[in-house]
Amino acid sequence: HEHLLGIEGLHPLDITHILDLANEYAEATRAGQRADPVLSGKTVVNLFFENSTRTMSSFEIAARRLGADVISMPVAQSSVKKGETLIDTAMTLNAMKPDVLVVRHSASGGAKLLSRKVDCAVINAGDGTHEHPTQGLLDTLTIRRNKGRVEGLKVVICGDIAHSRVARSTTQALHLLGAEVHLCAPRTLLPSGTETWGAASATSDFDAALQGADVVMMLRLQLERMDGAYLPSRREYFSYFGLTQERLSLARKDAIVMHPGPMNRGIEIESAIADGDRSVITEQVEMGVAVREAVLHLLAGGRS
Ligand code: CP
Repeated sequence: HEHLLGIEGLHPLDITHILDLANEYAEATRAGQRADPVLSGKTVVNLFFENSTRTMSSFEIAARRLGADVISMPVAQSSVKKGETLIDTAMTLNAMKPDVLVVRHSASGGAKLLSRKVDCAVINAGDGTHEHPTQGLLDTLTIRRNKGRVEGLKVVICGDIAHSRVARSTTQALHLLGAEVHLCAPRTLLPSGTETWGAASATSDFDAALQGADVVMMLRLQLERMDGAYLPSRREYFSYFGLTQERLSLARKDAIVMHPGPMNRGIEIESAIADGDRSVITEQVEMGVAVREAVLHLLAGGRS
């Protein structure tokens, strides 16, 4: 079986192919057309060991739109609470013969480990601080739709880079399509080695990074992944790394503002910007369904 475990290892043409199909799905949905039931008779299982609002519901909607049977496993009510491990849980579900297993887990490499044990397609819906490939794809599609291209754009991603699987996947996807990605975070939240993701720079000077940016993507502080690391107060964080109207004026006049969610208003982003006319945050969510339709179609619907 083919899997989608990360952006790493994909070819730019793979990404373009997925985005083109996703864009067809997005346009068809906007036009009120029903999708062909290419997943009719297929079973998709969502297995989420970490919380999710957007990813789990959009995989469920995408799979249903394509005619699949879907079950979403609420891990909080499952036997995981009785001590069943990731692998035992996955092997149990595997015995029920699903066609696709969509998995989110707190361990980096969790989805890959699972893909070696089961005999169906595995989609990584977020593994620890490692990757969240469908998020990288939906961010890239949203940018391509709004800017007409990805190549040559200056993209700034600011926030908790150290703990962000979104930063890792989105940076790689954008770099593969020729964008220049600049990462920005407090020094304690800026990991080394971001050049291996394809990042053009990594800095703690948000104002400098914003100069001439075409796209500004904000990330939240992932407090649940921080074990005692130094953290500034919320007010201090906002004063250096919060996106305000004044700061946004340093970027290009036509710059768009993005956020993968969940968003903490007033900590990383001013509420008026999140709801303003340069924000494409709800379009990201819309593209999330389209990208997941495309990925499910390609992995389980008989298109190569
Ligand atoms: N962007 C994202 O992964 O959101 P959820 O955690 O709500 O799925």
